[in-house]
Formats: sequence, C-alpha cells, structure tokens
Amino acid sequence: MNDLTQPFKRLPVAVIGTGSYVPERRLTNSDLEKMVNTSNEWILARTGIEERRIAAADETTSDMATSAAKAAIENAGITPEDIDLIIVATITPDTYTPATSCYVQAKIGAVNAAAFDISAACSGFLFGIKTAVQYIGCGQAKTVLVIASEKLSHIVNWEDRSTCVLFGDGSGAAVLQVGTGLDEDPAVLATDIGSDGKLTDLLIVPGGGTAMPTTEVNIHEKLYTLAMRGNEVFRHAVQHMRDSALSLMERTGLTADDIALVVPHQANLRIINAVTQRLGIPPEKVFINLQKYGNTSGAAVAIAFDEARRSDRVKKGDIILLVAFGAGLTWSSAAIRI
Ligand code: UT7
Repeated sequence: MNDLTQPFKRLPVAVIGTGSYVPERRLTNSDLEKMVNTSNEWILARTGIEERRIAAADETTSDMATSAAKAAIENAGITPEDIDLIIVATITPDTYTPATSCYVQAKIGAVNAAAFDISAACSGFLFGIKTAVQYIGCGQAKTVLVIASEKLSHIVNWEDRSTCVLFGDGSGAAVLQVGTGLDEDPAVLATDIGSDGKLTDLLIVPGGGTAMPTTEVNIHEKLYTLAMRGNEVFRHAVQHMRDSALSLMERTGLTADDIALVVPHQANLRIINAVTQRLGIPPEKVFINLQKYGNTSGAAVAIAFDEARRSDRVKKGDIILLVAFGAGLTWSSAAIRI
C-alpha cells in the first residue's frame, strides 16, 4: 500500500526490448526533384537526408506500430498477454477516436492491457518512456509497451518544398519492466520532458480540429497539412535539446565521457551536429540514420534507439542518451543503460 505519509520507494525500471519498422517504398531526393522545385544537392546540404520511406495507401499508423511492437515483444522475450499498458505516441492517429493504441492492442492480442495515446509530436516517444517509468516505478504496471508511430506522408503538403522533403513514415517500440536496480544492469537512469505552448504556431497542422473545422475551403487551401517556420524551429531545437540533455546529465552526474552513444531526434544533420557539439560529444558517439528515413517525428528517436541497441556500436552496460524536440513546442531526453 502506498501511504503518502510514509517515504515512497520507487522501483527501478529497465528497457528490456526494442523493435522498429519502416515501410518498403523509398522516396529519394531525385524522386522529389520531379515533384517540387528542389535538388538533391540542396536537400543533402541543408538536412543530410537522402531518402525516406512512404507507407502504402492502405497501411495505417497502427499497422506500422503493430510491426514495431511485435519486433520489440520478440526482442524482450515476453508474450502479448504479459503487457498491462500500451502507450502509442502519434500525431497521425488511425482515427480521432478510438485511440491508435486500442487498434494495436487488438492486432497484437494484448488482452490484459489498458491502452491510450499521447500527443507530443517528435518528443512523443520519450514522453511515453517517461510515462512508462512512472507507471512501473510506482507499482501501477509491470510491463509497458511504448510505441511511436507516424504516417507523416498523410499530413505532408506535397506541393510545399520547404517541408515535403523532410518527412517520412515509420514506427519504433520499446518494452519496459521493473529492473534489478543493480549497477551495470539495464535501467532508465533519468528522463526529462518540457513544453512551451507559446510557440504552437511554429510547427502546426492548423485545420481539421475544433479550432478550424474541416471545410471545403480549408481542404482546398491544404490547411490540414503540416506548416513549419523552419528557421525558428531550428533555433529552438538546438537550444532545447541541448538544455534538456544538459539538465539530465547534471541531475545524474553523467559526463560526456560516461555516454557511449547519443541517439538524437533525426530532423536535420545540422541540428544534430550543433547540439552534440554543445554537449561536448564527438561525432563518433552520435547515431544518425536520417539519411535513410528522414524525419519520422516521434518514431525517429524510437527507430534510431532500436537500430543503435541492435548495432555493434554499443554493448551491455553502456549508457545511451536520447534527446528529442518537436511541435508544441516540446522537448525530451532520457539516459538509458542497456
Ligand atoms: O521534427 C520537428 C523539428 N523540426 C525541425 O527541427 C526542423 C528544423 N528546421 C530545419 O531543419 C531547417 O530550417 C530546414 C531544413 C527546414 C530549412 O533549412 P534552412 O537552412 O533553415 O533554409 P531556409 O528555410 O532558411 O531557406 C533557405 C532557402 C530559401 O530560399 P531564399 O529565400 O533564400 O531564396 C528557401 O526558399 O532555401 C529555399 N528552400 C529550398 N530550396 C530548394 C527551402 N526549401 C527548399 C528545397 N529545395 N526543398
């Protein structure tokens, strides 16, 4: 029993499995040259992106989430029945309601789970990780599945060269359980999340909600697609990702030397370089896959975490620093020993 008058001991929490999924179809920079007034040289120089994946017309966000979830469940060595909470982070849900996590629950057969979605854009996966840590740490859940899944191709304005070259589709997942609490064993060491709601206009899908209901006019004007003030978002991304990561390092006493690998949000190579330079992290300790997938919003850091964790760039006992930034504005970071 949790008696609030007594000191409350939190349980240690660990990531015990990860998985990811990207659709088969590749959209290259040269494909985009045929669609809008852009060039491979501009996209590469300004972002580092070479290609991105695009989901099939009938492939939903929950379909992709299900594939990533199945891979994470297998990697964790658990069964779907073991899961008691599913959190899906997405800004491209299958439907307004029910939550995308409910579709995933049915598709994977997690019959014992409660399921809900969270909306924190590109920061969503780490918002989900923080939420899972609270549930498990407080003894409210034993096994939590966190998924970030996005079909951004659905909300991209394919006539706007300033945004359509950036985004792609995909999904990443992690399974969390109570950890051993022993040094060197897997553990989520610390998490940080933050938001600045004064800057909602910088990165927004303005139409389709209660603020601007769907009408023929706003469909025609593509107000249900992503609009971004790229330069300003860039500046805030560098500042907040740096500050979030630094606050977490200060809190845990971790130095740049203690971190084996940084897994940042995969929006722009120039942002990643600026952030990691400011953190004193050398390039060989930075995981980058944006050249293959572009920016998949919340899924980006989740896919990169899975790929990093399965790669030979880290080994058991290493500490990975994840850091993300997105619409809201929102930012998030996590230090995870694998
Ligand atoms: O995931 C959520 C967080 N999102 C981000 O972190 C994204 C942050 N922003 C960025 O990554 C960058 O701001 C962009 C990649 C979006 C843009 O790069 P930039 O260096 O900030 O370019 P810019 O917006 O200042 O545009 C420079 C020029 C402009 O032309 P003028 O006005 O100088 O003649 C644009 O019209 O580049 C032009 N431009 C393009 N040219 C060719 C913009 N998009 C393109 C394009 N191809 N696709």
